[in-house]
Amino acid sequence: MTAAAAMSSVGRKTGTGEPTVWPDLYAALAEREASLLDIIWEQHRYHEHRRWSAERLLHAINFSELSASDRFFVTNAGRAELTTKPGADRVARLADAECRRWLGKDDTVAKVMQACGTWSRYWNEEEAHHEMAFNFLSLALRLDPPDDATVIEYRKIFPDDDMLRTLTLLACSEINAAVTYNEYARRTREPGLRALLLQVGADEVQHMRYFIAFAKALVDSGAYPAKGVLAIAHLFVRPGGEIYGATRPETATRETHVNWWDHLDDAEGDVSLLMGVDKKLQMTYKMVEQVTGLVVNSPDEVEDTWLGLVD
Ligand SMILES: [Fe+2]
Ligand SMILES: [Fe+2]
Repeated sequence: MTAAAAMSSVGRKTGTGEPTVWPDLYAALAEREASLLDIIWEQHRYHEHRRWSAERLLHAINFSELSASDRFFVTNAGRAELTTKPGADRVARLADAECRRWLGKDDTVAKVMQACGTWSRYWNEEEAHHEMAFNFLSLALRLDPPDDATVIEYRKIFPDDDMLRTLTLLACSEINAAVTYNEYARRTREPGLRALLLQVGADEVQHMRYFIAFAKALVDSGAYPAKGVLAIAHLFVRPGGEIYGATRPETATRETHVNWWDHLDDAEGDVSLLMGVDKKLQMTYKMVEQVTGLVVNSPDEVEDTWLGLVD
């Protein structure tokens, strides 16, 4: 039997069409519609289908046409992307520890954790493209690239938290990143940089979709209460919340790790840290609905729903 025939004989399980983020992961594993290898194969296919070359996209950028705003944007993006590796390293470790903790108690949750930890290898690799593309531009254009001490500082691994809260925070972080890249892609006039920003933005949207899928699986399992999702969403969307990043009058200074959205320089030229705030809010409300089934449409509704779940 050929590989293609083998694939078609098992239907969508091992993926014969366009790869995608596996829908309803908890049900698929609980009802044994899919094995971990089915799900990991789909993750792998999706990763392969979406690969791109940072080198090739960088070659298409006309450096002499980059504006002051473009230069400012890529400098900040390079620093922000440095924090993705510790994020992915942490998810890999935490998800495997959680997998072992759930084994024998709820084997389906254990499998969801293993699927999440395995996917983090693709996430880490994809973020490497973002980090290196923007920091290469910082180096090549002498835009104050991160020095060694900064690289080491930005690699600090975040402290552990409950897995559902962690996945929700990562979904929020990807929403912020995706909207920021797409908004600035509309502002830059250099087509090569625009193509790079759109490519990176498309990756961030896929990452968001994966975090939503894993978070939804944990809520669907009944092992993780939905209030954790609302608590993190509230942290982002409340007035003065994380969505407003470094524009807030006060941002937390942490010894433990670096939140990229707290460390962007002030707005400059065409770049504003408030680019796409409304879009970020709408996507966060949608994320809450996709993960929990609860409909929220404003910061007040997020807070009220959260407090209703805490009571
Ligand atoms: Fe990224
Ligand atoms: Fe991302």
